[in-house]
Amino acid sequence: WTATRDKSCKLPMPKGSMGFPIIGETCHWFFQGAGFHASRRQKYGNVFKTHLLGRPLIRVTGAENVRKVLMGEHSLVTVDWPQSTSTLLGPNSLANSIGDIHRKRRKIFAKVFSHEALESYLPKIQQVIQESLRVWSSNPDPINVYRESQRLSFHMAVRVLLGFRVSEEEMHCLFHTFQDFVENVFSLPIDLPFSGYRKGIRARDTLQKCIEKAIREKPLQTQGKDYTDALDVLLESAKENNTELTMQELKESTIELIFAAFATTASASTSLIMQLLRHPAVLEKLREELRSCGLLHDGCLCQGELRLDSIISLKYLDCVIKEVLRLFAPVSGGYRIATQTFELDGVQVPKGWSVMYSIRDTHDTSAVEVNVEAFDPDRFSPERNEDREGRFHYLPFGGGVRSCLGKQLATLFLKLLAVELAGGSRFELATRTFPRLISVPVVHPTDGLLVKFFGLD
Ligand code: HEM
Repeated sequence: WTATRDKSCKLPMPKGSMGFPIIGETCHWFFQGAGFHASRRQKYGNVFKTHLLGRPLIRVTGAENVRKVLMGEHSLVTVDWPQSTSTLLGPNSLANSIGDIHRKRRKIFAKVFSHEALESYLPKIQQVIQESLRVWSSNPDPINVYRESQRLSFHMAVRVLLGFRVSEEEMHCLFHTFQDFVENVFSLPIDLPFSGYRKGIRARDTLQKCIEKAIREKPLQTQGKDYTDALDVLLESAKENNTELTMQELKESTIELIFAAFATTASASTSLIMQLLRHPAVLEKLREELRSCGLLHDGCLCQGELRLDSIISLKYLDCVIKEVLRLFAPVSGGYRIATQTFELDGVQVPKGWSVMYSIRDTHDTSAVEVNVEAFDPDRFSPERNEDREGRFHYLPFGGGVRSCLGKQLATLFLKLLAVELAGGSRFELATRTFPRLISVPVVHPTDGLLVKFFGLD
């Protein structure tokens, strides 16, 4: 709680408050959400100190400061998740690996998200999205979009990425256990009966057992399968890199992939649907683009095979997804630890302190984007191109050697969802006003966003 300054450094410590012993400002953070960081940033500046999830922390905002942290991986900082996150994800996860081991693991994972691999997942992703939209449209009641998007991204991860064929009942059970896991990944590391941390550990153990069973049954499942899944690619890629992944490594990698995809993609899907509801002109412009490319005809999506390249060529769609991820960045930032004392914005970051770089606050305070609070997809059009200034002003997927590995997959998923929504669905808000948003653990509406889906007449 009383982490100290580096006395050999002349620079002052960042300003800020350390809150109460042990819990620090964790409760303020949970209750205030995004407002917590914004209020402290206004009071103490772009680099301030606080105490969250059982440890002292320096929070960093602003493109130049974030650039220094992200590009300082290995020299100034290294990865350092809160203890609960580290324990629950396990020692073999990418999140917990450093240096050469991290580089080697990333190389193995890279093939899972290659252009070729994405092309092979595309029809399956499209199918999972279409099935969900059909179920949503056939429900006479409004859908809780955030909850159903979680289910959708979980199905995508389990069926498409991992190729597991589990029954509806098993899927339901897995989904609830996974929710317990995710809800407690960021918890105070207090291992007592009924603590969130203990609940998270129990959920992790159950998931690992189910995943081990599914992996052992996988050779049988592969027979007759007409597509490649990420686990197939991962095993093949490991072989090509002369590595044999152990069962424990596979289990941890699998949970990490679902974890990385689950809440982030669900949050972005919900924000996308909310923005299409709020901005009918944007939805109409998307439809216009689909029509002009021959993908939408007489109000119906052309059922022919959709190729990755045709999705990539839809420029306005790209602007819409970028803007959703700018204004509603699902991940608020990433955790590192200072491996040596360094200067940031005129203050010292002492060796041993945790550092959290901020994505959302950096977007919110960007000096290069015009009217940052407005939802304006055209800011990314070739004519305006407001993100040309540099990649650290816009970083929904992080940056540097630890940037998001699943970025292309997440973008593809969101684009396919937007195409289905624009081309094949009618949907309207089921409440009188739009809900408030909260940002812990990821951005989502307080009521989940209640929407009535109708499908096409
Ligand atoms: C890392 C965002 C979807 C896999 C990250 C990081 C961010 C991020 C900000 C960097 C964290 C850091 O600097 O410590 C997002 C967003 C997504 C998304 C906004 C959805 C809209 C996905 C998906 C997958 C994925 C679908 C895979 C199935 C990963 C992995 C890492 C990562 C494996 C760790 C990389 C490493 O440590 O080397 N993501 N992500 N993400 N993401 Fe994503």
